[in-house]
Amino acid sequence: MSNPFSKLSGLFNKSTSVLGVDIGSSSVKVIQLKNENGRAVLETYGELATGPYGDKAVGQAVTLASDQLSALLSDLFREANITTKLGAISIPLRSSLLVNIEVPDMPEDKLATMIPIEARKYIPVPITEVMLDWSIIPESNRSTYIPGQAPTPQPTGDDKNNQVLDVKKLKVLIVAIHNDTLRQYEQIAKDSKIDTEFLEIETFSAMRASIQSDFGVTAIVDLGAVTTKLVVVEQGIIRLSHTINKGAQDITLAIERSLSVPFIKAEEIKREVGLVEKFGDKDIGQTISPITEYIFSEVNQAMVEYQKDYSRSIDKVILIGGGAMLKGLLPIAEERLYAPVILGTPFDRVEAPAFLKNALNNIGPEFAVSIGLALRLLQEDKRV
Ligand SMILES: Nc1ncnc2c1ncn2[C@@H]1O[C@H](COP(=O)(O)OP(=O)(O)OP(=O)(O)O)[C@@H](O)[C@H]1O
Ligand SMILES: [Mg+2]
Repeated sequence: MSNPFSKLSGLFNKSTSVLGVDIGSSSVKVIQLKNENGRAVLETYGELATGPYGDKAVGQAVTLASDQLSALLSDLFREANITTKLGAISIPLRSSLLVNIEVPDMPEDKLATMIPIEARKYIPVPITEVMLDWSIIPESNRSTYIPGQAPTPQPTGDDKNNQVLDVKKLKVLIVAIHNDTLRQYEQIAKDSKIDTEFLEIETFSAMRASIQSDFGVTAIVDLGAVTTKLVVVEQGIIRLSHTINKGAQDITLAIERSLSVPFIKAEEIKREVGLVEKFGDKDIGQTISPITEYIFSEVNQAMVEYQKDYSRSIDKVILIGGGAMLKGLLPIAEERLYAPVILGTPFDRVEAPAFLKNALNNIGPEFAVSIGLALRLLQEDKRV
């Protein structure tokens, strides 16, 4: 499912600049890249918190009305010196559905009839109201599979995990977006004068920016403000997707309660102190850790589920999203999670001045989605 919601495939000229726009619940991130002799070059980037545009504090998640969002995007484009209108916008995972199902093995034409019927079980609205797409998930370590034809059983994974394929069931990834959501994002683009090539669910954008070479199995954990989104990816395909209903905003709320300070102050303390330092005589780490423990235990559970389903272990976990930037989080994640952990560095995928490298790496986790969008625009140009 490389291009599920493409409306057009762009053919740009050599110096085309493209825009990736990630409308998160607590902040909007934007990046402008250009194609320079087949390389993705960073032109500019920027971020603005949504809170102040909806009478809330910085860091607070808010659903903005269309005029508030237009005002934010216009300020952001001006502040970041965005010069192109050619872009793509991400659709939040919470406004879409990504589900893996199992169906009996059958030829593809039969599957095409069966999938919408199966999908009804997961989609709470009439199927005619959603845009539905699906793709067969190949078994581990097998890149092509023709449905209805039994493949030669072959081993998967390393020696320890060898198994014979079960050919009686097909795993299928179903993706659905409500037509109203598509219309809403098309309207946002129109209001902000963004000439959108496509809309893409944020998870697909984050994957593109986070995974460089897809050997092995990677779990991407996006610690956003409201939720934490986890996908397990192998051979570029989502094998499992799970949303955890806790995010980095819950950490601010815990500090707010524990220290009896306003949200804005709690947000400031979270960013400055994190898990490593004390604030006065208060051990902020103790306030924060029930939330991080909850998130990591949910991540572990999902990883165990994947391992059981596919008899393969997860090779690495990549942390992205603003919550990944919490001071002291990485060592805790390394300790708690059942696989090696790294912080996402999506800016590695683009060329930028050397003096910016450290700064870009520090903010990188938050920009994974917007970078992934812009990279796809350049990739569809076939010159990057
Ligand atoms: N340096 C930092 N230390 C700790 N937390 C941070 C830091 N920077 C940002 N955050 C937190 O990360 C969260 C924002 O992350 P991100 O921008 O990925 O979320 P979002 O995309 O707005 O939310 P969602 O994906 O849930 O819609 C906020 O809760 C913010 O407080
Ligand atoms: Mg986000």
